Amino acid sequence: MAFRALHIGDLHFWRVPANPMHYWGKRLLGNANLLVRRRHQFRRELAGPLVERLIALEADWLLFSGDFTTTALPAEFEMAARALGPAATRHAGRLLAVPGNHDRYTARALVDRSFERHLAPILPERGWPWFVPLDDDVWAIGIDGGTRNGLSCHGRLKPGDVVAMRTWWRELEQRPRELVVLCHFPAEDPGGAWTHNRGPQLHEAGALLDFLGECGLPTWFLHGHHHHRWLYGSPRVPSLVYLNAGAPLMRWKGGDPDLGFLELTHDATGSRVTVHWRPSGADWQQRQTTLPTAGEVIDLQCFVHT
Ligand SMILES: [Fe+2]
Ligand SMILES: [Fe+2]
Repeated sequence: MAFRALHIGDLHFWRVPANPMHYWGKRLLGNANLLVRRRHQFRRELAGPLVERLIALEADWLLFSGDFTTTALPAEFEMAARALGPAATRHAGRLLAVPGNHDRYTARALVDRSFERHLAPILPERGWPWFVPLDDDVWAIGIDGGTRNGLSCHGRLKPGDVVAMRTWWRELEQRPRELVVLCHFPAEDPGGAWTHNRGPQLHEAGALLDFLGECGLPTWFLHGHHHHRWLYGSPRVPSLVYLNAGAPLMRWKGGDPDLGFLELTHDATGSRVTVHWRPSGADWQQRQTTLPTAGEVIDLQCFVHT
């Protein structure tokens, strides 16, 4: 079997709330930040050309790694559902997503499950973690790493997540050849002077890395959160490669957004990664990437902007 999956990162649809009550608590800080920065940084009106391209590529799967919104407002989720609607219709049952920290931004958004409820038109509900076969020999695992965490922006694995994964693994009738993990936060962050590198962002990730290491399969860890597109070879689990899809609608160093995303192509020979982007004023581009060795980072952000 073979499939092509497109991996799309942080879209960050935003809306300045009309109701001042929405400014209380953390949302006050979020909106202050939004007003001075994100409104100019994230070009939500370019979602249309991005979605057209996702549809035109006729991939088998669309995989979204979270941060659909900025402050988890219902209006922001509805904007995301509306913008992605045509792609969801074309890929009915083949659009998978996990929430980011901005989709769990407030206690209320967490408790009333804003992500699940407002994205229901495009996203059939599944429990957490979920397990979905992408084809005969590749399974995807979806993790909700989002948690309300005050002023911080880290994620956290739930105590039962890895237990559920071990149970799923034990009960599998046929072991897959590869795994895809979809989680907003990477389980390991590359060190060094990376933009938005604020230290390890997924707390309690050790048990997940232990599990993936014991599985011993080639594993593609699809994430976002850091708004800088890269591939990173896990220094701890030799068979694990991180794919960071970046933020397609975000302006980069004052320039236009690149609308970039990643494609994972799987066939009998294994898997390959291709980066797609649209340079300002030009046609769409795509290029297959090399894969990183353990501990190596391949920068795909500067790559498409040079
Ligand atoms: Fe983000
Ligand atoms: Fe995030």
